[in-house]
Amino acid sequence: MIKNGPYLALDTTYQKRSVNELAEQASKRLPESFYDAREQLSRGEYKNVSEGRPVTHVLNRSVHAVAKQTNRKTRFVEVVQTLRSGRWLGATGKSITDVVNIGVGGSDLGPQMGAFALREFADDAVLHNLQVHFVSSMDGGQLYAVLPIVDPETTLFIISSKSFGTIDTFANVDTVRRWIEPALSQEQWLDKHVIGVSANAQAMTDYGIPPSQQFTFGEGVGGRFSLWSAIGLSIALTTGVRPFERMLEGAKAMDEHFFTAPVEDNIPMLLALYGVYNREELGINNLAILPYDGRLRMLPNYLQQLDMESNGKQATADNKAIDYPTGPIIWGGFGPNGQHAFFQHLHQGYDQFAADFVAVLKREAPGFEPAVQEGLAEQQRLAVSNCLAHRRLMWEGSPNNESPRDHYPGGHPSNLLIMDELTPESFGALIAAYEHKVFTQGVIWGLNSFDQPGVEKGKKIAKDVLRVLDGESDESFDESTDAVIKRMTM
Ligand code: F6P
Repeated sequence: MIKNGPYLALDTTYQKRSVNELAEQASKRLPESFYDAREQLSRGEYKNVSEGRPVTHVLNRSVHAVAKQTNRKTRFVEVVQTLRSGRWLGATGKSITDVVNIGVGGSDLGPQMGAFALREFADDAVLHNLQVHFVSSMDGGQLYAVLPIVDPETTLFIISSKSFGTIDTFANVDTVRRWIEPALSQEQWLDKHVIGVSANAQAMTDYGIPPSQQFTFGEGVGGRFSLWSAIGLSIALTTGVRPFERMLEGAKAMDEHFFTAPVEDNIPMLLALYGVYNREELGINNLAILPYDGRLRMLPNYLQQLDMESNGKQATADNKAIDYPTGPIIWGGFGPNGQHAFFQHLHQGYDQFAADFVAVLKREAPGFEPAVQEGLAEQQRLAVSNCLAHRRLMWEGSPNNESPRDHYPGGHPSNLLIMDELTPESFGALIAAYEHKVFTQGVIWGLNSFDQPGVEKGKKIAKDVLRVLDGESDESFDESTDAVIKRMTM
């Protein structure tokens, strides 16, 4: 049965329960507090209890909040237009041609996914061809690839970091600051070649970023929910302001749907409830995200952070031990290529899984000759037919007792998320639908979806190890860790 939401539809036919059965039983699984929690979220008042702050990302796409932030928004628009039109000049008078977003986690995945998905909606009134690059990893491997193709005099770096203290990000920034010399001095670089985006304005000021090049956002916007805030600057630089706003409008429309639609029509709630059912009653511990449109190929990586960092927990919001399964392992990949890689296991392997397929039904290709347009339309039909076929085989199976090689067990539940077209609005709606799914599951499982203590603990241990590698400590850890440290410091 296909349920229509704003810019997005959901087919749940290949789930083991009908929507009506699920909706009837929803009251048993949804805690009474859910509707209050949803109401609080809609007002930006839901509490991230462990970090002592409200959860406010939803306010970033409300007209009311935009009005309150007019100054900030005006500057955001100005900066985007100045950079996209080639009017932003570097310290030596040359026009900026390249922008590198340096950030990690939510300060990278959302902006990168959005910029990649919405590139073709770029406002083509702007002739200057600004290139936007992304660097995230602490190991420098990405920087190694980007630095040779950009020029210090014509490149601007966006330091994207909610905390403005993440070591991964500043390891990359420190190397960039070595690379700019002798073309630019450090003062020139800070003055004309850097924009900071953070919830921590003081840290940006202390770092030396001029106030006119600082963008802030609220502490209540979690890193993995920040593409709607100024962290989305690199999306706006790729597309122009209007497509960015259209993305916010799509998200806003999905917010309204989530806040008001009855459960049997509510796409995020259905995604959440099927997820809980598959996890708890069918014992399926993983969800494959399988987009069938190349523009959405980063969706699995993005949803990994959104879902696993939010709901991969064993403590309730009030810090009691949880003894039931919570968020599943999120994995997946670009469907058309996955067919030629891991789908064999999905069709005939041993393991249970659930899947979310994402299909884009139609694609316009203005700007191409009619023959090429027709070729691209045919390719879209080819992709959708493969999406439907593989999904069907995973569900229906094809038992053949005579030949085990021809036995397809089937029975793997899936959702099909349908976008009639990929537009900034439908993209925004898709991402917001997943945000609200994760929120709903977090409330059902009684946990706080907005902190990440496990990640913080890992960061602390990494600091202790680094001190030993740098010769500042002789702490011992365990046989394996100590052996690798010894091998590296010998
Ligand atoms: O990985 C943990 C984390 O805190 C994420 O939640 C966050 O998106 C990422 O690090 C980057 O943090 P920041 O934006 O503060 O640099």
